[in-house]
Amino acid sequence: MAKRNHTDSVLQQKFDELERKNNEALTGGGEKRIGQQHAKGKLTARERIQLLMDEGSFEELGKFVMHRCKDFGLEKEYYLGDGVVTGYGTVNGRLVYVFSQDFTVFGGSLSETHAEKIVKLMELAMKNGAPVIGLNDSGGARIQEGVVSLGGYADIFYRNTLASGVIPQISAIMGPCAGGAVYSPAITDFIFMVENTSFMFVTGPNVVKTVTHEDVTSEELGGATTHSTKSGVTHFACSNELECIQYIKKLLSYIPQNCEEDAPRLPYTPGDESRPKLNEIIPSNPNQPYDMREVIEGIVDDGSFFEVHKNFAENIVVGFARLAGRSVGIVGNQPASLAGVLDIDSSVKGARFVRFCDCFNIPLLVLEDVPGFLPGTDQEWNAIITNGAKLLFAFSEATVPRVTVITRKAYGGAYDVMNSKHIGADLNYAWPTAEIAVMGAKGAAEIIFRKEIAEAKDPQAKLNEKVEDYTHKFANPYRAAHRGYIDEVIYPDQTREKLIRAFQMLENKVTTLPKKKHGNIPL
Ligand code: HXC
Repeated sequence: MAKRNHTDSVLQQKFDELERKNNEALTGGGEKRIGQQHAKGKLTARERIQLLMDEGSFEELGKFVMHRCKDFGLEKEYYLGDGVVTGYGTVNGRLVYVFSQDFTVFGGSLSETHAEKIVKLMELAMKNGAPVIGLNDSGGARIQEGVVSLGGYADIFYRNTLASGVIPQISAIMGPCAGGAVYSPAITDFIFMVENTSFMFVTGPNVVKTVTHEDVTSEELGGATTHSTKSGVTHFACSNELECIQYIKKLLSYIPQNCEEDAPRLPYTPGDESRPKLNEIIPSNPNQPYDMREVIEGIVDDGSFFEVHKNFAENIVVGFARLAGRSVGIVGNQPASLAGVLDIDSSVKGARFVRFCDCFNIPLLVLEDVPGFLPGTDQEWNAIITNGAKLLFAFSEATVPRVTVITRKAYGGAYDVMNSKHIGADLNYAWPTAEIAVMGAKGAAEIIFRKEIAEAKDPQAKLNEKVEDYTHKFANPYRAAHRGYIDEVIYPDQTREKLIRAFQMLENKVTTLPKKKHGNIPL
């Protein structure tokens, strides 16, 4: 070993001592801190990384970084790494970058140096084209540091934005995430939350109480259940940290490393692709609900459907699946919830998913059964116009292969919006049960034959007659097929085979949008 001068060896001793303390705190002997973390039902920052990464693959970066603040007693307390473990390694053999906040060091709060470590990691990830996974467990801006900590957050937000659409960004919330800190996860592609141990809010229960006089707990205000059902902020609510990490790994298996790549493909041997069970799903009564998940599961590779945003805006179903081993993004109206109608939440949920798939070259399959947009003052006053337009815009600008299957209703504007050929879908199929019309037959007859019905001797009989007439003309896919809006009317049991062929045919699709800086999606 090369001989070191005095200053070097003193520094080294200091580092060794700090590292020993740090390791005690985080991995072994620091029983008190680890115990505190475990007592809250949480793992430590390093335990989380161990669970996530392939064994022995993790390379830590910035282990010796320490905070620079000398105010409010911080000059007396230093921890190597400064409350965040950062590095790279592999998950199922594929490169990922990870940061994991350590709540046992100043509450995982974000200092100037803590932020610098995350920024450095994000920049490496962008240059090398691999996902960033953030495991968040933090009390927010390090209060003792003041504005440099706020600056650190902004540095991260800026990188989050630049990285958006370049590499997948995944956030897991495994403890507190409050104040402006929530905006980093919010910009990332997917948020996972752990039930009962994590929360996210811009202002906590105490401030809420002061300002609005509402009494609310952290869990009610911003827990995993709240954000997975009410706000839609989180895409996955997980029952514990292990499940959370398993879901992250599963998600990674469907998505590419960056926007230049395709998603990984599983081996696939062609076989008998007919699926007779699909013939039995659509009820004979067109107003009776059914579960679109049954259709999805009947079409895709066995057990491959991985639902995203499951408990939010349940009238639309979105998620990843594999078709002949290849990743596809699925968007399906859900007749089992609100008759599958499009409303504000479902439009936004669908639009966000479509845009993720389009960023990362994942073909889109749309399964359509939609009676239109939800009427009412609540929807209009909360801007169904702007929000519905998001879904329309997202589909219209998506350049990945896009295929639609209309299983039953395709009414009104929703027909256009749900990946119709008019807005750039590559292929549209319809089942024989499809009804493609401006609206349902009863509503249509009541409007266009109002006078005739009112003047009839038996208005009810007249209405029935007109409903039947309209149904006969429009409650089928053939008018649209005559026009070429539908490429083929197919039987449900043929759907899987047709789609495998369609997506194979579209595999080398090249299409570009007009040159522009960026579009102006109606936000
Ligand atoms: C410095 C912090 C800290 C912070 C917690 N700690 N948050 N230190 N800066 N932001 C320290 C505590 O002092 C304590 O230190 C240790 O971490 C553990 O915290 P506890 O309070 O004992 O833990 P717990 O009871 O689990 O409560 C966790 C908590 C609470 C809910 C997160 O600590 C809390 O409310 N912290 C403040 C949250 C906050 O207001 N942050 C600023 C938000 S504004 P000791 O030494 O006692 O162990 C923000 C702006 C971002 O983040 C701006 C971006 C634009």
